[in-house]
Amino acid sequence: MHFSRLFLASLVFVSLLWISHLLRKRSPQSQDDLTVEKEDLSVTFDTLLHIQHLRKKKLRSFCGQTAKITELPHNKQEASQVVSSIMVNNKLQLLYCKIPATGVEGWEQLLEMLEEKENVTLQLPVPIHQQFGTQMMLSQYNLTSMEALLKSYTKVIFIREPFHRLISAYMHGLADDLTFKEFVQYILYQGSSKASIEWKPLVSLCRPCIIRYDYIIMFGFLGSEVHHLMQRAGLLGNNQLPEFIDSKIRWTYGWLEEQMFSELSLAQKKQLCHFFRFDFAAFHFPNSLLWDPTCIVRST
Ligand SMILES: *[C@@H]1O[C@H](CO)[C@@H](O)[C@H](O)[C@H]1NC(C)=O
Ligand SMILES: *[C@@H]1O[C@H](CO)[C@@H](O)[C@H](O)[C@H]1NC(C)=O
Repeated sequence: MHFSRLFLASLVFVSLLWISHLLRKRSPQSQDDLTVEKEDLSVTFDTLLHIQHLRKKKLRSFCGQTAKITELPHNKQEASQVVSSIMVNNKLQLLYCKIPATGVEGWEQLLEMLEEKENVTLQLPVPIHQQFGTQMMLSQYNLTSMEALLKSYTKVIFIREPFHRLISAYMHGLADDLTFKEFVQYILYQGSSKASIEWKPLVSLCRPCIIRYDYIIMFGFLGSEVHHLMQRAGLLGNNQLPEFIDSKIRWTYGWLEEQMFSELSLAQKKQLCHFFRFDFAAFHFPNSLLWDPTCIVRST
């Protein structure tokens, strides 16, 4: 059975409408599964802290086993290449890796909102950004400033299960007139070095073995995880976080992905796992349909 992009897009749209209808109908006391998960996590600050520790530990072990380069290169051009996806927010003293459809869009809206509020003050009100300049992209700074910013600012990476990234890219029209199977064939044919930012492995885009991220935020849990980050960084004040819709999208994709997965041949599934093997080894996506214990990363 083949799925056209238009059909899938309307399926997602209808199910999102249906979910929001359900959510609206329920009284605040009778939470459904979607919000219980979120609410549970948001009250347990310690759980979220623990999750961050586990993710960073897994990432460090991955880097220890496989990474050849763990320091920012001392050459300005090479260093700029390494940090080419990293954005700078000087007012809130944050660095984040900007990859589409990983949750970064909602995050940027939130940062804009926080910047507009005058009451947001940092716990360490050191106006260091004057020394560094005001560029938005880390690659535009000189090497000295790059290193200083990497040392002093809070660094955030957004991760998302690879197969969901593919589905998202497919539905956002990045594969005109292709079936999902043809789209996947095209990606595999192109290989990872020529891959588009929408599906290139996160490890090669965000370089987590060189940039020591303080927070690894998982798509599907943005509401509670970003809240936790903001609380720890002292950025939230009395502000309410806007609602993130990623948990609903994740839920919708959950029943879509099996259908799309079944369209692929066994060889394609194995090749996709190989294509994303570094992301699987660096971050934990235990429920991914693509994940297969035979596609492991060999030490280099
Ligand atoms: C924000 O700051 C204004 C003064 O600048 C103050 O009147 C107001 O109470 C503050 N609001 C919060 C939520 O702290
Ligand atoms: C780097 O940029 C900062 C801010 O623009 C400047 O003060 C500093 O002198 C520069 N350093 C070098 C080595 O060019």
